[in-house]
Amino acid sequence: MPRPIAATIHSAALRHNLARLRDAARDAKVWAIVKANAYGHGIERVFEALRGADGFALLDLQEAERVRTLGWRGPILLLEGVFEARDLELCSRLHLWHTVHCDEQVDMLAVHKTHQPHKVFLKMNSGMNRLGFAPQRYRAAWARLEALPQVDEIALMTHFSDADGPKGIAQQVRVFDDTTRDLPGERTLANSAAALRFGDDPAVRGDWIRPGIAMYGSAPDYPDHDIAHWQLQPAMTLASRLIGVQQLKPGDTVGYGSNFTADRDMRIGVVACGYADGYPRHCNTGTPVLVGGVRTALVGRVSMDMLAVDLTPVPEAGIGTEVTLWGRASNGAILAIDEVARAGGTLGYELMCALAPRVAVTVAE
Ligand SMILES: Cc1ncc(COP(=O)(O)O)c(C=O)c1O
Repeated sequence: MPRPIAATIHSAALRHNLARLRDAARDAKVWAIVKANAYGHGIERVFEALRGADGFALLDLQEAERVRTLGWRGPILLLEGVFEARDLELCSRLHLWHTVHCDEQVDMLAVHKTHQPHKVFLKMNSGMNRLGFAPQRYRAAWARLEALPQVDEIALMTHFSDADGPKGIAQQVRVFDDTTRDLPGERTLANSAAALRFGDDPAVRGDWIRPGIAMYGSAPDYPDHDIAHWQLQPAMTLASRLIGVQQLKPGDTVGYGSNFTADRDMRIGVVACGYADGYPRHCNTGTPVLVGGVRTALVGRVSMDMLAVDLTPVPEAGIGTEVTLWGRASNGAILAIDEVARAGGTLGYELMCALAPRVAVTVAE
């Protein structure tokens, strides 16, 4: 029998979250962001649930090939565009739309031989200072692309640095709008946070939204808002079982570094889950966990293959009892990945992406 840890991908939750994002952004089309192997969920595992999207967006040419292999004939967008000239051949062959964010990518296109002109998303750096043309250089880049026979459609794109936080997006939207006002072409600006928080505004939702994290059931602006607030459902459950139980007396300690000391008689459970499974090592005593669907807390340090939990609220728990590290327990109780991530000083994004290869994953309805 393998170790009892496993992850489950919830197809119904993915479909529900996609529908929520569509509602939030009304008439906009949706690029389902499936970069980083669908945020750790697995492209092949989420594909059926997300094929109601209008397109798939990702970074990696191999991931794009995998989406085509699954039978997707619709739009696929490379969010960082091509990395070298020969990538354009694959773009032509697989009919990939690609982002153009720098002069070098325009240069590559200009010498690319293709029978079928490309659709490109011209990216503006409207303030995040990651990828994209500065506003004052954007229109010149547009004009260069427009003149190329290799290009037949130019869409306009930017990305927000603070859609999830107090700074917000107003300044970046202004810069984007001022620069692109009279340019033709579809527009895409909004990630999950922008779509959920500002999707009412047509200037923000544009023609395409680009949600990732919310589709997977994590609140982009947690802890200001949680998944219940945004009516999102966890798309991934990480669950395991108790493989040991210890009875502690006051003064007894738990785990490496004796990091937790019992101040009373207490039962603790040992869970088959550690940082080698992708559970964050930085989670400390108090991190929420569900045992038998009942909320309790981690005690002591997370080790490579095990962690310990307080069994006080679940006296009936014993070896074999289900433990939900994040996601949905068998009794329907939910522990949002955001809560665990916060306790570990990180984000839901990182936990999803860090699910370890040794954890078996199944897809459920
Ligand atoms: C260009 C671009 N668009 C959209 C997204 C999706 O963002 P989120 O997962 O916050 O919705 C990302 C992710 O980082 C991105 O890099």
